[in-house]
Amino acid sequence: MNRASTKNYVPRETIDEILSRSDIVEVISECGVSLRAAGRDFKALCPFHTEKTPSFSVSVQKQIFYCFGCQTGGNVISFVQKHEGKDFRETLEWLADRLNIELPNQDPRTIAERKRYTTLEDLNRFAVEYYHHQLLNDPAGIPAKRYLHNRGVQASSVRSFQLGFAKSGRREIVKAATDKGFTIQQLVDVGLIKDEDHGPQDRFWNRILFPIQNERGVPVGFGGRSLSEEHQPKYLNSPATVLYDKSNILYNLDKARQSIHKEQRLLLVEGYMDVIMLCQSGIENVVASSGTSLSENHARLIKRFVPEVVIVYDGDASGFQAAQRGLLRLLAEGLRVRIALLPTGEDPDSFTREHGVEAFTQLINKAINLIEFQIQVAIQSQDIHRIDVKTQIVAELTETLINVENRVELSEYVKYAVKELEIDASILWQELRDAGLKEVTSAPRRRRQGKVAPQKLSARTQIEHQLIEALLQNPTLIPYVKSQFDCQDFTEPRYVRIAQLLWQADTDDAPVDIQTLINNSFDERLSAFVSGILLRKTVPPNLQARVDGCLKKLRTFLMTDLEQRVRSSARAEGADEIETLEQLVKLSNERRALSDRGLEDAPNENINDGRS
Ligand code: UTP
Ligand code: MN
Repeated sequence: MNRASTKNYVPRETIDEILSRSDIVEVISECGVSLRAAGRDFKALCPFHTEKTPSFSVSVQKQIFYCFGCQTGGNVISFVQKHEGKDFRETLEWLADRLNIELPNQDPRTIAERKRYTTLEDLNRFAVEYYHHQLLNDPAGIPAKRYLHNRGVQASSVRSFQLGFAKSGRREIVKAATDKGFTIQQLVDVGLIKDEDHGPQDRFWNRILFPIQNERGVPVGFGGRSLSEEHQPKYLNSPATVLYDKSNILYNLDKARQSIHKEQRLLLVEGYMDVIMLCQSGIENVVASSGTSLSENHARLIKRFVPEVVIVYDGDASGFQAAQRGLLRLLAEGLRVRIALLPTGEDPDSFTREHGVEAFTQLINKAINLIEFQIQVAIQSQDIHRIDVKTQIVAELTETLINVENRVELSEYVKYAVKELEIDASILWQELRDAGLKEVTSAPRRRRQGKVAPQKLSARTQIEHQLIEALLQNPTLIPYVKSQFDCQDFTEPRYVRIAQLLWQADTDDAPVDIQTLINNSFDERLSAFVSGILLRKTVPPNLQARVDGCLKKLRTFLMTDLEQRVRSSARAEGADEIETLEQLVKLSNERRALSDRGLEDAPNENINDGRS
């Protein structure tokens, strides 16, 4: 979370106020999740993965949510961040807004900029309506309407995409907008007009306009298509402005969000018309890069919403190349990417019109992964049995594969490549290492959302888990455990982190409040984990005994660690064997003594006093 930059800084008290006044049940319902009461809690089908029986729980009392299926969880902030795809600051703004809380802004420049954005946004909204009205109602819009009709665009799409028409005049929007009170400068600033030698003139004339919105639905610019071959360029777009940064905008992302979320997959196409025609056929999880090459920002933007992308670029040479470049960008961001190949000369728009939406869906389902893609490209263009060609392909594949973050996927790709190219796997792995691939040590670093298999814990980690669980379920036990166990002695890093937080929060005056802790820790994964524990109904009857049992076993493990350290350092130093043996005997006696101690040391007072 970015709390360092002053621009985004929100004081602790404001966050606390937002948290205390937001009701998680209300917010989750407002986000379109239909919650059903189940005892004191609420249940629903999890919005973060596909399921048939509800495993998504919300606790009113604790103000947290947790999905027992995909292990997503946290407080109201984590929910909005995840569900709405907002960053931390945006989430706070959103929550603050619905409570009528003013977010203090420390940077006056930001305030001024925001004001400016708002009025420019207003101007764009006005322009969208104005041009849309022209298309529908002005007699000059009739040829444009006919053009759209001939291309198969239905009236409902004209409405939902707010398509517009700019007449042939040179000062149409200039006049309409200034009449409304907007200034020439503002019109220049949003790129609707040019103010050069001949005075203020409309940028768009005799063009069909596609309003472009950012991911929150704010209009930021336009793409304007000419109605004839003679009128060039085919598409004229708004210039870059304070609102419109091409590297950050994907056409239709605002409208596609719900569908993307549901499908857990996004289709990336090239053009406005592709988006509109697919949406019209019921495929709504689609966005367009609008002819610009895919940037790192685009990839990050996509990553906020979805783990998998299918690139469906035009079936021509430039579409092919663009797809390949886009693919690498997306991979580098850790997205799963596949490419659907269209027949030569087709784009998604023409393809669905000619072959129907069924055929298009089949094409998407047959989308191939990047290695298949690269190998197909190579096979199509050259004789892969020639040794120099093979060498060349291996070099190209290495370059691609080095971008694959997920190790399991990487190894699948390697297997595929090895089979297709009839080469030895070790050669490809060696190439990858030479290109800088780190040694494979562990399972994939990234887990797929919604498909998380519960991890198998080692015996030691299980005990650590039990201890942490007990402490979260009854925080009055914290001082007791803290006095005899060092938080660094957990082997599992996240338990160390939780224990650190618990130990820190434990001051003399009051028992630790886990709720506050969740809200303050802000670590998404930690708060998901803690929420999960808190939402499990069964609290074992005698937590004290359980804690003692855990401490005892953990101490035994610690002593074993110590013995092992002594053994290995003795071996390394070539120490006298007898001496080492004596030391080890002493240690193992201590271990036994220690592990017998636990229960005797337990305090006698009832630790449940004062808290339920
Ligand atoms: P295409 O040339 O494939 O256009 O460019 P298209 O979407 O198929 O358009 P139609 O079907 O001929 O009307 C793909 C995208 O590239 C951008 C536009 O965003 C377009 O949708 N582009 C294209 C431009 O920005 N300027 C151009 O001159 C051409
Ligand atoms: Mn087209």
